[in-house]
This record gives sequence, structure tokens and C-alpha cells, in this order.
Amino acid sequence: LMKRIIIAIDGYSSCGKSTIAKALAKHAGYTYVDTGAMYRATALYAFRMNANGIVEPMNGSNSSNIVEMLKDIHIGFIQTPEGQHVTLNGEDVESQIRTLEIGNLASQISTIKEVRAFLVAQQQAMGAQKGIVMDGRDIGTVILPNAEVKIFLTASPEARAKRRYEELIAKGVEITYEQVYEEMVQRDSNDTNRSVAPCVPAEDAIIL
Ligand code: DC
Repeated sequence: LMKRIIIAIDGYSSCGKSTIAKALAKHAGYTYVDTGAMYRATALYAFRMNANGIVEPMNGSNSSNIVEMLKDIHIGFIQTPEGQHVTLNGEDVESQIRTLEIGNLASQISTIKEVRAFLVAQQQAMGAQKGIVMDGRDIGTVILPNAEVKIFLTASPEARAKRRYEELIAKGVEITYEQVYEEMVQRDSNDTNRSVAPCVPAEDAIIL
């Protein structure tokens, strides 16, 4: 019987983390956990509350609103014929979380330590079982530091922006390459420079 292990995949946005993580999970018969989707679903909840006038718009220094909402946010994953989808309070929100706007809001709220603590606990609970491929920014460093395999994926900002741009265009989103590039550089900077769990390779990660 083969030993089941934990595989942690970290890296910047649009490197192909989820493509690799999904393929590995499928190949090994492991469970895939997309932690970015959890930040995105949390961001979507905050976005909707704001759109309904229930809370003020959020930014890094205005975080109390979102912290109070956490008790009302329940995130899960379901299997669908198109693959794994994330749920927010039981609703399949997979397509709604994959926008640039929600990606940026996810990056902003992910700097708030209470938001991280809320999701970290759930991610560690999922990682307690072996046979997991988890991707994100801090999996090898914070969430599952005992993972047997840690990969940190990187690519040039230009290559990543091109990949993301082509994905968005294929979905029919109207955007220019320059817009995608600028938003990505901003998000990289947020994710790398935040004080809590920044996006950096673990010491024992394989950098690809
Ligand atoms: O991987 P992604 O683009 O779906 O992630 C969206 C944002 O969520 C990302 O910009 C930063 C945050 N995130 C994080 O802080 N920690 C993780 N483990 C995963 C995502």
C-alpha cells in the first residue's frame, strides 16, 4: 500500500498552481483544496454586503466590518461534473468568484489577521487527513509546514499576465493586457509584502 502524503503548492497568481494541483490530485486520487477560492468566497460575501449597503467599502485599514461577518460565512466544496466548486453558505459561487474584482478584494481581505485565522483553521482541519493537494500562498510555510512535498511555482509577471489575459478574453471579459498586468503587479505586491503569512517559498520548497 502506498503511503498517502500531503502536497503543498504555493506561488503567485496565474502561475498555473491550480492546473498542476488538480492534475496531481487526479493522478494520485487525492483531494484537491483550493485555498484561494476560500479567500475569494469570503471576499464575495463582503462584496455583496457592501453592494446591499450593509457595510462600508473595505480597504486594508478598514477591516472591522469583515471581521464581524466571519461568523455568518460558511465555505465548502462540492463535486460537480465540471470539477470542484466552492460554496458560500450552501450556494455554488464558483463562477462569481473568478473575476478580477473579487480577486483583488480577496487579496485585500487576506491581509487581515482575523480573516486568515478563520480560514487557516479550516484549511488545517482539511489537511489533517493525508492524501491532500492544497494550493495557495502560505501552505508550505504556515498551513501545512509538515507537508512531504512543497512546490513553489513562479513565472515572469509578463508570462502570468498573458496567461490571465487569455483566460479572461476566452470568458468574454472586456479588458486589455495592460490592465491585467497592472492589477497583477498590485496583487503580487499585496500578497508578498503583507505582514501576516506573506507569499514566500518555504525553506524546503522546490522552486519551479
Ligand atoms: O490564488 P487566488 O488568486 O485564487 O487567490 C486570491 C487571493 O487570496 C490572493 O491574491 C491572496 C489570497 N490568498 C492568500 O492570502 N493565501 C492563500 N493561501 C490563498 C490565497
